[in-house]
Amino acid sequence: MTELIPSWTEANSQTFLDYGRYFVPERERQIETICGLIPPLPSGVEIVELCCGEGLLAQALLERFPDATVRGLDGSSEMLAAAGKRLAGFGERFRPRHFDLADNDWRAIRDAHAIVSSLAIHHLDGPEKQALFADVHRMLAPGGVFVIADVIAPAGKQAESVAADAWDWAVRQRSLELEGNLDGFELFQTEQWNLYRYFDPDDIDKPSPLFAQLQWLAAAGFVDVDVYWMQAGHAIFGGVKNDSTAKRSISPRRHRGRRGNAGKFRRKPPRWARRLFAGESKMKREIRLSDPTVHVSVIDALFGTTYAVRNTH
Ligand SMILES: C[S@@+](CC[C@H](N)C(=O)[O-])C[C@H]1O[C@@H](n2cnc3c(N)ncnc32)[C@H](O)[C@@H]1O
Repeated sequence: MTELIPSWTEANSQTFLDYGRYFVPERERQIETICGLIPPLPSGVEIVELCCGEGLLAQALLERFPDATVRGLDGSSEMLAAAGKRLAGFGERFRPRHFDLADNDWRAIRDAHAIVSSLAIHHLDGPEKQALFADVHRMLAPGGVFVIADVIAPAGKQAESVAADAWDWAVRQRSLELEGNLDGFELFQTEQWNLYRYFDPDDIDKPSPLFAQLQWLAAAGFVDVDVYWMQAGHAIFGGVKNDSTAKRSISPRRHRGRRGNAGKFRRKPPRWARRLFAGESKMKREIRLSDPTVHVSVIDALFGTTYAVRNTH
């Protein structure tokens, strides 16, 4: 069997094909969330999936957008064969192709209406992710969206320990719910798949902090950069390529802006947020020190996990 990728192996593919349904927290909800973030598509447009694996997300996209095609890129022959088999009924609407995520040769794609990826971009290091985000921005049509589902690097040891426990718990639950036994969970442990518990800096996994990735998206030119879901060290986040020809979309926050300030972001967080974060001087400092064109707001104080970063350009 051809090993196209030096890091991710066909053996990894087989393990993930066999046990991915246990290993991925809220997998069905993640797929639903990604699909829900893609705006209605005009007929005949293309969605690109980076590292499509066995084609579960591609299948949901093809079903939800019956006039769209999905270009499914992956580096594993095993995964592409599984995706081809699963999606055979969609005919030409699913276009599988080998690629290496780290290479540049496939980045000449233009005018994609959405580019999505699940559980793969963490195989790139920080600078590679930044280059990818800039390239994906170029690959999208105006108004196109980039949605990433991935493992992220928790900010600090305590957060890492919380993520490790939460991932174990999620896999344990899925194992019980899906099969009524702990076989899936036991393999998760044997394989040392929980990178928050068994992190090896020389391993194929190079997750980056979520906050940094949001900033890289904004720096690449994305607007409405946001986090849409997060659990057990896994997050779904992304942004939109600004469409200068379209009317500016009105987000709820902007819509509620003070009279005379509509369409702009307030530089100062609202009073409730200032009170809530009175003790959070580091976060406040980060907000103030961030690029003045980027407004950072913590929008999910109750869960303490969701950030929104908006580039006002
Ligand atoms: C954890 S699996 C995720 C599969 C699928 N996206 C999902 O969420 O079910 C990681 C996928 O990324 C692919 N992959 C990993 N590194 C890659 C690389 N450098 N180039 C291309 N594909 C890669 C693997 O072949 C595999 O299909």
